[in-house]
Amino acid sequence: MRPLIAGNWKMHGSMAEAAALAGAVREGAAGLPAELLVCPTFLHVASVASLLAGSAVAVGGQDCHAAAKGAHTGDVSAPMLRDAGASHVILGHSERRTDHAETDAAVRAKAEAAAAAGLVPVVCVGETEAERLAGQAEAVVARQLAESLPDGFAGTGAPAGAAGIIAYEPVWAIGTGRTPTEADIGALHGFIRERLAARFGAAGQGMRILYGGSMKPGNAKAILALPNVDGGLVGGASLVAADFLAIARAAG
Ligand code: 13P
Repeated sequence: MRPLIAGNWKMHGSMAEAAALAGAVREGAAGLPAELLVCPTFLHVASVASLLAGSAVAVGGQDCHAAAKGAHTGDVSAPMLRDAGASHVILGHSERRTDHAETDAAVRAKAEAAAAAGLVPVVCVGETEAERLAGQAEAVVARQLAESLPDGFAGTGAPAGAAGIIAYEPVWAIGTGRTPTEADIGALHGFIRERLAARFGAAGQGMRILYGGSMKPGNAKAILALPNVDGGLVGGASLVAADFLAIARAAG
């Protein structure tokens, strides 16, 4: 499986900064051993998508509404993202689950809407530090997978036909500079693979599972070499084109 290195730009950047970052990523994208995806804010999706049109770098949103349109002030729908040039959308990020009280059921409805609009959903799962210390990491992730993923997630039922993507992001590793041990990452990714295979069969074997949480150029090679780690979802380091591209090079 060809690795995917995805940048989650979160709530960062002016129009000019987003354009500069997209341009620098585009310039360095040729010949890398990974596919690239960048996910700017809603405000920047259209301009970044037009700057990256015709390049090897895909563009995604960071969230979408479950409805295609309607009276939902402040929200953006999956068809709108598609229309603006996105091909992917991150869903159920822990910051959405925390800041906006998103439930597994809400994430599932959004993933259905994304697939119906032809977007590839990137659904985030991951335990808090308290849950890990209580020995609950696998149980939490199992529940999130069972309840956040729609039945068509493997692509068999989605109009888009593309398999969804999972991002395992331990909440306590996000933006902290701390990561699980390589053994713990490998164990969780193996566990996720088992759950996907049990639910989706052969399609689950082929679905990408990204690791996210303080991935940097210095630790990317070791993490990306682990079995069942099919790429990364990168926050802070994706805001520096040289670091993002170095992580992509480490996937080879
Ligand atoms: P950091 O890479 O900044 O830890 O963020 C990870 C993340 O949340 C990506 O979605």
